[in-house]
Amino acid sequence: MSPMESNLTPEEIFFDGILKNTYQTWQQAKAIFSVSHKNLSTELRKNFFPFKENKLHPLSPEIWTILQKRFSEIIAEDWQDARAGIYPYEDLFEIDILTFIETYLKLWLDQPSSWRRMQQEDYQDFPDNINLEKYPNYYRRNFHYQSDGYLSDKSAQLYDLQVELLFNGIADAMRRRILKPLKRELDKLDQDTITILDVACGTGRTLKALRSAFPSVSLYGVDLSCAYLRKANELLSQLPQELPQLLQGKGEELPYQDNYFNAISNVFLFHELPKPIRQQVIDESYRVLQPGGIMVICDSIQLSDSPELEPMINNFSIAFHEPFYTDYVKDDMEEHLQKAGFEVLEVKVCAFSKYWVANKPKD
Ligand SMILES: C[S@@+](CC[C@H](N)C(=O)[O-])C[C@H]1O[C@@H](n2cnc3c(N)ncnc32)[C@H](O)[C@@H]1O
Repeated sequence: MSPMESNLTPEEIFFDGILKNTYQTWQQAKAIFSVSHKNLSTELRKNFFPFKENKLHPLSPEIWTILQKRFSEIIAEDWQDARAGIYPYEDLFEIDILTFIETYLKLWLDQPSSWRRMQQEDYQDFPDNINLEKYPNYYRRNFHYQSDGYLSDKSAQLYDLQVELLFNGIADAMRRRILKPLKRELDKLDQDTITILDVACGTGRTLKALRSAFPSVSLYGVDLSCAYLRKANELLSQLPQELPQLLQGKGEELPYQDNYFNAISNVFLFHELPKPIRQQVIDESYRVLQPGGIMVICDSIQLSDSPELEPMINNFSIAFHEPFYTDYVKDDMEEHLQKAGFEVLEVKVCAFSKYWVANKPKD
C-alpha cells in the first residue's frame, strides 16, 4: 500500500481503483482508435496517392514493445500526478463528442489534399488570401503537409485532433508533464502575483493545462499564427478563470519587457525551428524571465536518449514535412540553454517527449 493509500478509507481506495482503471481503459481505447485510424489512412494513401513508401523504415516488434512500455509509463505518471493534486482528475477524461465527430469528418475530407501534397512533396501550397510576407521564411510551409500550414482557421480547427491521433491519444498527457516541475518551483510563491508565458501556445492546449494547475496566476500566450490564437481564445474563454493574454509574435523577438515572467513553457516548438532560431528563442526566453525564474521545454525525443527508436524518428521526417527535425534530434539543447545563461536543473524523457527544466540564476 502506498503512503497515500494508507490515508484513505477502504471505500476511497475502491473508488480510486475504479477511476484509475477507467482512465487506463479510456487511454487504451484512444490508442486503439488512433492506430486503427493511421492504418486505414496509410492503406488508402498508398492506393490513391502512393509516396516513397520504400524509404519508410519498418518498425520491428522490439520497437512496438518499447512504445507500449512508454505508453503505460506515461499513463501511470499522468494518473499519479492527478492523484497528487497537481491537476484535477477531470482533465484526464476530457472529451467533447460532438466536436470530435465534426472534426474527425472534416479531417477525412481534408486527407486527400494532404496526401497529394505529400506525394508531390509540395510544402508551399497556400491560398492567395494568406499574406506569407508577414512570416519568417522557415515558417512559410505546410508543416506535416497540413492544409494552409499554421495559417488558417481550418488548419487550427483540425490541429488538435491531428496531434492526438499522431501521438495515439497521449498528446495532452505529454503536455501535462511540464506541470510538476513548474508546481515544484512556483508553489513557493504568492499565486496571485505569478506570471507564466507559454511560447508558441498554438491552439491553447498547454495554457488550458496550466490554468488547471494554477487557477489564479496570470497566464500569457504568444504564437505566430493569428488563426491558432483565435482557436486558443475560443478554448480558453470557456474557462471560468481569468482569460490568458494572447499576443501574436515571434518566439525569437518576444514582445515583452525584460525580467517579467516567473515561468516560461514551450511545448512542441523547437523541432520546427532552424538551429540558430532555437538559440534565439532560448535567449529571448532568458531575457523576459525574472532572475530565479524557471523555463520548461517539452519537445520530441532525440537520438541520444532513444537510439533504439531511430527508425521511427527517421520516419517522422520522411513522412511529414519537418525540415528541421533531423537537425533537432541531434541538437544539444542543454548547450543552447547554458549559452543563454540558464542553469539546467533536469532533463527527462517520457513517452515520445523530452523535457528540459532550466533556471535563470539570481546572479
Ligand atoms: C507544433 S505546434 C505546437 C503548438 C502548441 N504548443 C501545442 O502544444 O500544441 C507549433 C506552434 O508554434 C508556432 N510557431 C512556430 N514558429 C514560431 C515562432 N518563431 N514564434 C512563435 N510561434 C511559432 C506555430 O504557429 C504553432 O502554433
